[in-house]
Amino acid sequence: MTNPTILLTGATGYIASHTWLALQAAGFNVIGVDNFSNSSPEVLSRLERIGTLRPEFVQADVCDASALDAVFAGRRIAAVVHFAAHKAVGESTVRPLAYYANNLGSLLNVCQTMQRHCCKTLVFSSSATVYGKPERLPIREDAALATTSPYGATKLMGENILRDLEKADPTWAIGYLRYFNPVGAHESGLIGEDPRDTPNNLMPYVSQVAMGKRARLQIFGNDYDTPDGTGVRDYIHVLDLADGHVAALRYLLDGKGSITANLGRGRGHSVLELVRAFERASGCSVPFDIVSRRPGDIDACYADPTLARLALGWQGLRDLDAMCVDTWRWQRLNPNGMAG
Ligand code: UFG
Repeated sequence: MTNPTILLTGATGYIASHTWLALQAAGFNVIGVDNFSNSSPEVLSRLERIGTLRPEFVQADVCDASALDAVFAGRRIAAVVHFAAHKAVGESTVRPLAYYANNLGSLLNVCQTMQRHCCKTLVFSSSATVYGKPERLPIREDAALATTSPYGATKLMGENILRDLEKADPTWAIGYLRYFNPVGAHESGLIGEDPRDTPNNLMPYVSQVAMGKRARLQIFGNDYDTPDGTGVRDYIHVLDLADGHVAALRYLLDGKGSITANLGRGRGHSVLELVRAFERASGCSVPFDIVSRRPGDIDACYADPTLARLALGWQGLRDLDAMCVDTWRWQRLNPNGMAG
C-alpha cells in the first residue's frame, strides 16, 4: 500500500513548514502549495536540508480555483491541512475586507475543490482566539465562542462553514485544531518564525531584543488579574504543534470521525516569566518598559488539553525553556530571517 498524500496549503509558513517535516517523518507523502505572500521560497531548500527529501511544491494562490484544481488533477490526495490565511490580529482591524476575502475565500475554494475531487478529509487551522474573553480557565472545547477581531471572526466563521458542510454531507471528516500560542523553532535552527516586519507577537519580539536588533521590549500592561500582573498565555512549541497535526490526520484517516481539539500545553506563563526564561536561554538581557495595555488583550488564556490527550494521544511535551532555547538558536543563526 502506498502512503497517503497530504496537501498543505500555506505550506512554507511557520506552522506548516514544521508540520511538513513531521508528516514526512511519519511516512506521509506531502505536497505543499503557497503563494509566498508571507513566506520565502528559501524555506523549501531548508526543508530539503533537514528532511533530505526534495519537497514537492506548487506555487499558487489557494483562492485561485483553476490553480488548485490543477494541483488535485492526477494526484490522489487523501487529506488537506489548510494553513493558508492572513494572521495578524491588529492588521485585521485595519483591513477587515482583505481578511474576510482571503481567509474565507480560500477556505471556500479549498472545500469546493476537495469536493470536486472526492477528497473529504480536512484539518483546519483554527485558533484559541475563537474563545474571545474566556469565562472559565482552563478553556475546554465546549466553552462559549466569541471573537474580538476580524481575524478571530474569520476563524470562527471558518469553523461554522465547515460544521454546516459536515451537516450537509456527513462523509466529510474534519479536524478543528484550536492553536494556543505557537512559539519555538526546529532544533536545526534552519526553519522558524520569520516575521517580515516588526513582530506583533511576544516571542519573536523578545528574541529580536535579545539579539540587539530592537532596543527594548514594551510590556503591554502589568495590572492584569494574574500573579505578576502581566498577561498569561499558553505557549506551545511549534514542533509539538506539528505532531498534533500528524495525530489529528491519523485520527481522521482512521475513520474516527470529526474532532475539535485544543492544541495547547495547559500551562499559563506570564510575559515576565517568558522574558526571564529567554534571558536564561540566551544569556542576553531583555530590557523592557511597562506601557499601557494593548487594546483587545485579555488577562489570561490557557487550554484544558485533556481532549487532545485522550482522543489523539497527543500532548505538548516541550517546556518554556526548550521553546526559548530553540527560538534563540533560530534567531542567532538567522539574524535577518530567511532573507539573509
Ligand atoms: N505582549 C507584550 N509585548 C509585545 C507583544 C505581546 O507585552 O510586544 C504581550 C501581550 O500583551 C500578551 C502576550 O504578550 O499578554 C502574548 O501576546 P502575543 O501577541 O504573542 O499573543 P496573543 O495571545 O495576543 O495572540 C496570539 C496570536 C493570535 C491568536 C491568539 C490565540 O497572535 O493569532 O494568540 O489566543 F489568535
